[in-house]
Amino acid sequence: MDQRAIGVFDSGLGGLTTVRELKRLLPQEDIIYFGDTGRVPYGSRSRETIIKYARQDVAFLRTFDLKGIVIACGTVSTTALDLLAAENPIPVLGVVEPAARAAALATRSGKIGLIGTQATIRSGAYERSVAAANPGAAVFPQACPLFVPLVENGRFHPGDPVIETVAAEYLSPLKALGVDTLVLGCTHYPLLEEVIGAFMGPEITLISAGAEGARAAAVQLQKQDAMAKRPQGTHRYFVSDDAADFSRLASLFLREDVTGEVQQVEIG
Ligand code: DGL
Repeated sequence: MDQRAIGVFDSGLGGLTTVRELKRLLPQEDIIYFGDTGRVPYGSRSRETIIKYARQDVAFLRTFDLKGIVIACGTVSTTALDLLAAENPIPVLGVVEPAARAAALATRSGKIGLIGTQATIRSGAYERSVAAANPGAAVFPQACPLFVPLVENGRFHPGDPVIETVAAEYLSPLKALGVDTLVLGCTHYPLLEEVIGAFMGPEITLISAGAEGARAAAVQLQKQDAMAKRPQGTHRYFVSDDAADFSRLASLFLREDVTGEVQQVEIG
């Protein structure tokens, strides 16, 4: 048993889709979330900048007594997981390997589509993890740089002509290639599930990297006998930009009202 909190971070709000799954699987856990809303998006930045920001995010979370950290960000997971795991004495978990494993298992044709930020696609991390899990499968990557800003601005609803147009442009090549599984490699993308699912068709399996990361974290806690023991955990949220803006949008990602404390903090 370990009563310490789990730290979770993302460049912004997307990591809340991971928090939603963590809360569902591990209701007894205390969760401390940091969203770098003042500096989102990370995905179009250089490797060096992403690593610098990620280190600052982790340093902030480590001001709390944590049993582990979940990188609820595809971009940071693909770019800085090994580094952050090596630098910190507590477990640091990402979303790539769990999502790649799930996709490698799900595919029947061996054609896996991957959508993510520019940094995620550039990293080649999914190609490596899928090859390790299923050498017969191939990854077809597609960077979708406009998805994160559109989601952060609430433009993810089916029927919105902007998101429908952008989605069609990004997803058409993957559809033409005949992928049967599509990894949503960015934790913002579950909000686009309806739009993406409608465009790709019902026969395509969507794998959410954020949810797979949460499931893998839950399994690891169980294996290490590190689950907390209490009826209900608490949830605290920290952001680097306006806290009121966060609460309004965060409920869309969590699919429920934000009940815990929300506080703006200075980092970096
Ligand atoms: N949620 C982040 C990810 O999973 C968004 C990336 C960004 O900030 O560009 O990649």
